[in-house]
Amino acid sequence: MATRRSFLSALAGASATLPVFREQAINRVFRAGEMAKGRQPESLADDENYWTEIQRAFDVDRTMVNLNNGGCSPAPSHVLEQMIRDLKFSNELPVDHMWRVLEPRIESVRRDLARDFGCDIEEMAITRNASEANEIMIFGLDLKPGDEVIVTNQNYGRMITAWKQRERRDGIVLKQISFKVPPPSQQYIVDQFKAAITPRTRVIEVTHITNLTGHIMPVRELVDLARPRGIEVFVDGAHAYAHFPFTRDELGCDYYGTSLHKWLLVPIGAGFLYVRKDKQKTLWPLMAAAKEQDEDIRKYEEIGTHPAANHNAISAALAFHRAIGAERKIARLRWLRDRWAKRLKAESDRVTIYTPLDSPYGGGIGFFGVAGLDMTKLNSWLLDKHRIVNTLIVHPEFSGLRITPNVYTTPDEIDLFADKVLEAIRKGVA
Ligand SMILES: Cc1ncc(COP(=O)(O)O)c(C=O)c1O
Repeated sequence: MATRRSFLSALAGASATLPVFREQAINRVFRAGEMAKGRQPESLADDENYWTEIQRAFDVDRTMVNLNNGGCSPAPSHVLEQMIRDLKFSNELPVDHMWRVLEPRIESVRRDLARDFGCDIEEMAITRNASEANEIMIFGLDLKPGDEVIVTNQNYGRMITAWKQRERRDGIVLKQISFKVPPPSQQYIVDQFKAAITPRTRVIEVTHITNLTGHIMPVRELVDLARPRGIEVFVDGAHAYAHFPFTRDELGCDYYGTSLHKWLLVPIGAGFLYVRKDKQKTLWPLMAAAKEQDEDIRKYEEIGTHPAANHNAISAALAFHRAIGAERKIARLRWLRDRWAKRLKAESDRVTIYTPLDSPYGGGIGFFGVAGLDMTKLNSWLLDKHRIVNTLIVHPEFSGLRITPNVYTTPDEIDLFADKVLEAIRKGVA
């Protein structure tokens, strides 16, 4: 594992904005890294000495148990502080401090993200969230009336809304396929898409990990299915990037959009869009750019005046993420998920876990239902009575609660949540 010197130089390589990375935070993650030396991610997943150091990097409100980090997550304090410092510095003389000094640092952010995702610097655009990244894809491709787009009915609502607007405006045809939860196999999912393909199919949009049940979809297999048929695959990775490890080449995709204020832990207002170099010319930006920018990834960043502080905070969050390590992080997130999910399953035969456990197709997102219990009532009982933040999901084909801890979540918080669900199962929530 890293020595202090290699660790600091890794951080230094990560960002031009590094000097503001708080010494205390560096020490915190370094001390944790020392503890983790030579250990496998799985063996570290339940080591509270290590994870307590990570928890201390956050100033979170512990009077509530926050099990909705999937919506958006708190940032480590030093990352937030950097953003605030940049905002204050910008405000002193915006046209100079923001435009001349801070804005050009977006190029360091681009470099850092491209390196981590595994694409070329010229393929990485910084956006304000996944919605922006995904809508650049959805509205950016020329489509003719009658052209078909395939999504599932578990894609994110806003993305489906965007496609529906294209249906009304451009006469395209949106096909929403359904698939069982949990799906019997990855091949089963591919088969559902395959059955919907016709000679008019132009685009497949797939959610890398669904925000509903937390199933990791077979992106690579869908790309392999679509590419020979001339079908574009848009990947909505809002919940995937920095949640579990993968690279662009493992997915083989040409387009990818994500939020960075979910699992990368950037303060609210950050995302990225990856577009493979040879696809950039035919994907229009959402806001107009000059013809000379046709093949320049920066055309997707022509959004007018915006704070440089938000996108520059990405590099600090990425350095924190890399210091923990993607493998360690997913091992901990799966351990936290298993701690409540396996316990609920073991202690009540009324509980169904819809997220794959002991599987590479599940991560930190867990989704469950309880037979004979009104999940809407359980959702508000947990929140109002016990201050446990959780997410109610009501889909036409299933419903339940989504639970998303993060690296700062403690085992005590997970146990309190599981205790309360079991109490509700025993006594009801009236
Ligand atoms: C699958 C999916 N796509 C897109 C989004 C939109 O993300 P944002 O609100 O950051 O734009 C979300 C948000 O939860 C999501 O879950």
